[in-house]
Amino acid sequence: MSGGKSWRIGIAGLGTVGAGLLDILSRRPDFAPASGLAVVRGVSARSRSRPRPFDISNLPWFDDPVVLAASPEIDVFVELIGGSDGPAKAAVEAALKAGKPVVTANKALIAEHGAALAILAEDCGVPLLFEAAVMGGVPAVKIVRESLVGDEIQSIAGILNGTCNYILTEMEATGRSFADVLAEAQRLGYAEADPSTDVGGFDAAHKITILAALAFGCAPNFAATEVEGIEQVELLDIHMARDLGYRIKLVASADRSGDGALVRVHPSLAPLSHPLAQAGGALNALFIESSRTGRIFVQGPGAGAGPTAVAVAADIADVIAGVRRPVFQAPARSLPLSQPVDPSKMMCRAYLRFLVKDEPGVIAAVSETLAEAGVSIESFLQKPVEGAQGVPIVLTTHNVAESVLTAAVDRIASLAAVLDQPRMFRIARI
Ligand code: HSE
Repeated sequence: MSGGKSWRIGIAGLGTVGAGLLDILSRRPDFAPASGLAVVRGVSARSRSRPRPFDISNLPWFDDPVVLAASPEIDVFVELIGGSDGPAKAAVEAALKAGKPVVTANKALIAEHGAALAILAEDCGVPLLFEAAVMGGVPAVKIVRESLVGDEIQSIAGILNGTCNYILTEMEATGRSFADVLAEAQRLGYAEADPSTDVGGFDAAHKITILAALAFGCAPNFAATEVEGIEQVELLDIHMARDLGYRIKLVASADRSGDGALVRVHPSLAPLSHPLAQAGGALNALFIESSRTGRIFVQGPGAGAGPTAVAVAADIADVIAGVRRPVFQAPARSLPLSQPVDPSKMMCRAYLRFLVKDEPGVIAAVSETLAEAGVSIESFLQKPVEGAQGVPIVLTTHNVAESVLTAAVDRIASLAAVLDQPRMFRIARI
């Protein structure tokens, strides 16, 4: 057992991650390698009486997280409420203004208000730490912010949302419906309170916004992150992609490009043998490519009570050890806003799916439209589906400017023989 100072911890938010953190702190208050104990001295949540799998009756209760955040009874404020605004933001601001270090798992808060909060934290001379905001228990923030600080990161790409990964994996493995698997992901504690945050790609977008800011030495610029979720991915696409040798994943990526960065989230096809294709279930996985180190790959549980609480504990340990550094890669007032790159200047290979009338000349019309636009077809698959109206045709393209490709797809969508909105998913470049 370590001696030294007792660090009084206040925790706001007693959901999945809060439960995991209480478990760590009750079993091992001396977990931090520096001399000092972490002892919970205040908790706050929406409901005091809600049934919980752990006892909070002996912990000082605060109805208002903002009051807890500024309370003289605590030394460190841990924010696990979630949400970019509202009580989470108010409580974090109150803690920083009261001179208390803040540890948060709140990706929305850091992605959307990280620049202003970093200025506040640095003006108040206290740390603002958020390892748990990205990839749960898998170190990601520390790798990008600290381990690779002497390198130049060129690109980052990964699976950053466990719920989407679980849904896509289970749909492929079991043929179950999207809604059915989503309900299970909620039961397992992977999904956000509002699961459209997960399936719409916003959760992954918050996380890649944070990593991009750290990787490229900018302030987080969530407004510039391009977001597309998995709502358009059907079981048919999952099976067709597999027949072509690919697996569909929701990939978040950030690429340095000239003075700017292209930061985006969208469904992508990864070759079946690729590590991203093999990261199944609720796993998260991340590639980081840098000039000197080359390529790093990490994979592990990106959600859930235990793993995410371990990441929160790592930040509490840094507070106890007295680690001091800017919130991002430079003092917050000097951080530039990352400049978005025009995505139409980007090249890609893509998977296209068209549902067409089963009649002569349709395939010729589709391929002629692509040829006229200069889009070269790499592979082609037509597979009648029992009971379906029309017949799906699927093809993959060679490398082409995205703007050229989307214009060609729009032209094909307007052909009389095309029955449905075409699907276009990029093939992962990693
Ligand atoms: N809903 C998130 C996920 C939880 O599915 O990855 C962890 O941020």
